[in-house]
Amino acid sequence: MSYLLGFRCATCGATFPPDAVTYTCPHDGSNLDAVYDYARMQRELDPRWIAHDTARAIWHYAPLLPTTLPEAVMQQPTPLSTLGWTPLYRAPRLEQRLGMRALWLKDDTRLPSNSFKDRASAVVIAQAMKMGVHTIAVASTGNAAAALATLCAGTALQAVIFVPQGTPEAKLAGILIHGARVFVVEGSYNDAVAMAAEACTRFGWYNRSTGFNPYTREGKKTAAYEIAEQLALHTPTPTRFRAPDVIVVPVGDGNIISGLHKGFRDLHALGWIDHMPRFIGVTAALAPSLYRAWRAGREDFETIPSQTIASGISVDRPCDGVMALRAVRETGGVFVEASDEAMLTAIHTLAAEAGVFVEPACAAALVGLEESLRRGWIQPDEEVVLQLTGSGFKDVRSALRAARQPTVVRTLEDVARALV
Ligand SMILES: Cc1ncc(COP(=O)(O)O)c(C=O)c1O
Ligand SMILES: [Zn+2]
Repeated sequence: MSYLLGFRCATCGATFPPDAVTYTCPHDGSNLDAVYDYARMQRELDPRWIAHDTARAIWHYAPLLPTTLPEAVMQQPTPLSTLGWTPLYRAPRLEQRLGMRALWLKDDTRLPSNSFKDRASAVVIAQAMKMGVHTIAVASTGNAAAALATLCAGTALQAVIFVPQGTPEAKLAGILIHGARVFVVEGSYNDAVAMAAEACTRFGWYNRSTGFNPYTREGKKTAAYEIAEQLALHTPTPTRFRAPDVIVVPVGDGNIISGLHKGFRDLHALGWIDHMPRFIGVTAALAPSLYRAWRAGREDFETIPSQTIASGISVDRPCDGVMALRAVRETGGVFVEASDEAMLTAIHTLAAEAGVFVEPACAAALVGLEESLRRGWIQPDEEVVLQLTGSGFKDVRSALRAARQPTVVRTLEDVARALV
């Protein structure tokens, strides 16, 4: 049973029944946000019941989602039917160094394709199965495409991928190996976005591109539910869900941050958490479109060529920027910029001090956390969740720039000399 009422345009506020629209607002082309019947959910859903079945991973939140997998697909344990419930763990050494009371890492490098994007692809695939489509296309900086290719493998669905030139090799490998059809677009990520949309229109494919497809945000919100449920396991609450004070998120298109915001908005509207966390969004200094709009207090975005090494957040213009701005503004948060150099340092810090290996885009979150502590935007006694979004194995070249070089030896004496 779905509690989806329909979709609301982020700009003009027009609302549409669930089956009346597929992607964006027919009036102004803006992104749509799924709307739920919270009053009926509140009457009919028991949070203790929602939170009891973690073996079903993201799908145990099906009553809070706009769509779910067909029962026959659900019954088989596959990457698609079991993804989610990634670990939420503390980082005691980082806490100590940063003087913090409680720092949690939500480790979505553990998803099947090693990035957060599996959450969105899974829910879009569920909707594609419901619609009876055969081909799903996506424009991606690499991770969303790898997620789609991974989760389509083993189903009857064909994935078609549009990535920009310069996509890290490991991301390309993680797409190609699953049998997806891949097009490398001569141009930027935003050029790939435009081409994927045109191709979908021309060839009749279903478009999973981030933000443009409203189901991506709905998939991503499952991370918020998991965080709240996992925090409540450590400090039990009657509602089985608990919000942190602050959540720090790397931002490119802005769909991960708007998804997390949506998840906490749902829980708050249902009365299952008692406050909204503050959202800190971290953009790359060399991909400044969204940050400039934030500083200028605007909701429209310039197209500014991105030059960051952080492929995951390398966007010329954010595809879910309006909702990302609202996640931050509505919760009293801030946007912070991260330099490429600082991201490389943060990769090393997270690996050496918290035991987790991430790609540059993901490491941006730690840069934002450190800056926010310095500026007083986060207080040391606040409980903070850092959202980890992508594995370091996705971009080994950047990791090697961040790491200490190995010592080449021939004899044990060489080893002894090196240790002095
Ligand atoms: C590793 C990683 N982190 C963060 C992001 C940013 O997500 P969004 O583009 O939804 O803001 C991405 C997007 O590709 C990513 O791959
Ligand atoms: Zn509209």
